[in-house]
Parts: sequence; structure tokens; C-alpha cells
Amino acid sequence: MSGSLKDRTVLVVGRGSGIARAVTLAARDAGASVVAAGRNRAGLETAYRDEPGVAADTVDLTDERSIEQLGERLGTVDHVVSTASARARGRLAELDRDEVRSSFDTKVIGPLMLAKHLAPRMGDDGSITIFSGVAAAKLAVGTMAVAITNGAADVLARSLALELAPIRVNAISPGVVDTGAWDEFGDQTKSAYFDMISSRNPARRIGTATEIADGVLFAMTSPFLTGTTLHIDGGEPLT
Ligand SMILES: NC(=O)c1ccc[n+]([C@@H]2O[C@H](COP(=O)([O-])OP(=O)(O)OC[C@H]3O[C@@H](n4cnc5c(N)ncnc54)[C@H](OP(=O)(O)O)[C@@H]3O)[C@@H](O)[C@H]2O)c1
Repeated sequence: MSGSLKDRTVLVVGRGSGIARAVTLAARDAGASVVAAGRNRAGLETAYRDEPGVAADTVDLTDERSIEQLGERLGTVDHVVSTASARARGRLAELDRDEVRSSFDTKVIGPLMLAKHLAPRMGDDGSITIFSGVAAAKLAVGTMAVAITNGAADVLARSLALELAPIRVNAISPGVVDTGAWDEFGDQTKSAYFDMISSRNPARRIGTATEIADGVLFAMTSPFLTGTTLHIDGGEPLT
């Protein structure tokens, strides 16, 4: 039987849009009280102004004290989801050390510190869900730093699942989803990229934030699911 999110507290780290927003609203709609935390608390307050059951808070995953302080404010928490990400895209010659470091800091060390400070505040039936991504499963020139970050996130989820048991820990690996994460490419390049992915992946389209949120809710509420990565990527690594 699946666990229920009714009257549970769910922390979602990230921004007020994209996948974080879809997870926040899906968890709230499933009966949870959700704390949406990120670097931009005012932005989160605005994003969720009209959404009952969602409170905004502050956390910077590159700052351990900020994570510790969030834990102190929360007191206890049932489920933790980290969607935070800082990508270091580009070919080897273009990679900047600080950007690669920031990628790991945000998506690997940050979630590790979240687990360190929040797991002691969770019950045995709690869960932690972190984010990987398709770049780790479908290697390509130009996305090496994204791939190695996501690969580390996959191993982090398995390692945490072992050490924090019976708290469950899983990773979600989305394929390409139009969340705004690709806007830096400009409309034309972004659209051409989405068309290229859609023409070759088995799903024949890019994903939606809601489809990824469905996977997060499954991870949060499946009592026998731990130490794994759910690949919700339209089958892109097969191509
Ligand atoms: N969209 C896709 O196609 C795709 C594909 C594969 C994997 N993913 C993964 O899925 C997750 C969600 O993706 P998304 O596209 O919805 O969002 P996203 O564009 O990756 O946004 C992640 C957000 O994390 C926040 N963040 C960055 N550094 C932070 C820090 N130090 N502390 C706290 N928050 C921080 C930022 O929000 P603020 O600027 O407001 O701080 C940023 O907008 C990410 O982990 C992403 O890598 C996405």
C-alpha cells in the first residue's frame, strides 16, 4: 500500500516554477503541507501567493549554515525534495572551474548537507528525493560536467539510502523538459533542440514538469522504493 501525503510536511527546494512548482502543487494537492525553500524567498512568496498549503522559506544549498538554520525553523519534516541545479554546460575547453564546482556544490554536496541536517528531523517513514538528469545516461560532447554531476547524484542517492535506512532515498532523472531551463539558448535554438530530441526519442516528444512531479510523488509514497534512480526521460538514452 502506498504511503499517504495527507497531513505530512514536504520540503521542496528550488525555484517557484518548473519542476519544483509542479512537485509543490502535486504534493499539496495530495494533502501535504509544503514548504518551498530557495535562495529567493520573496520570489517564492510571490509565486505561491494564491496557493494555500504552501509556505515559502529560505535556503542556499551551497551554504551549510543556511541548511542547518532551515532545519531549525522546520523542526520536523517528513519528505525532502531537492530540485536545485546550477548547470555547467559546454565542451571541455569551455568549462570554467568555478562553474563546474558550483554544479557539484548545488546538486551533490548541497543535497548531501540537506540529508545530514534534515534526516535527524525525519521519521523512519520519511523520504529524500534528489535530482539527477538524462545527461548521465546519455553521454554527449558538450554536457560532460552536467553528466558527471548527475552521475554523482545517482551514487549519492544510493549511498544515502544505505546509510539513512529506513529513511528512503531516491533520485529522479528527467529527460528534456521545457521548464525555462533551456531559455538561455534563445527561442530558435531551443525550439530546434526540442524538435531534434522529439524526433529521435521513443516518446517522440519532450516531457512535462507534471510528468516529472508524478515520479517524485511515486518516490515519496512507495514504501519499498529506495536507493534507485527513476528515469523519466522518454527513453532518450536508448537513442
Ligand atoms: N528541465 C530539464 O530539461 C531537466 C533535464 C534533466 C534534469 N533536470 C533537473 O531537474 C531539476 C529541476 O529542473 P528545472 O528545469 O525545473 O529547474 P532548473 O532550471 O534546473 O532550476 C533549478 C533552480 O535551482 C535553484 N538553485 C540554484 N542554486 C541553488 C542553491 N545554491 N540553493 C538553492 N536553490 C538553488 C535556482 O533557483 P533560484 O535561481 O530561484 O535560486 C534554479 O532556478 C534540476 O535538478 C535539473 O538539473 C532538468
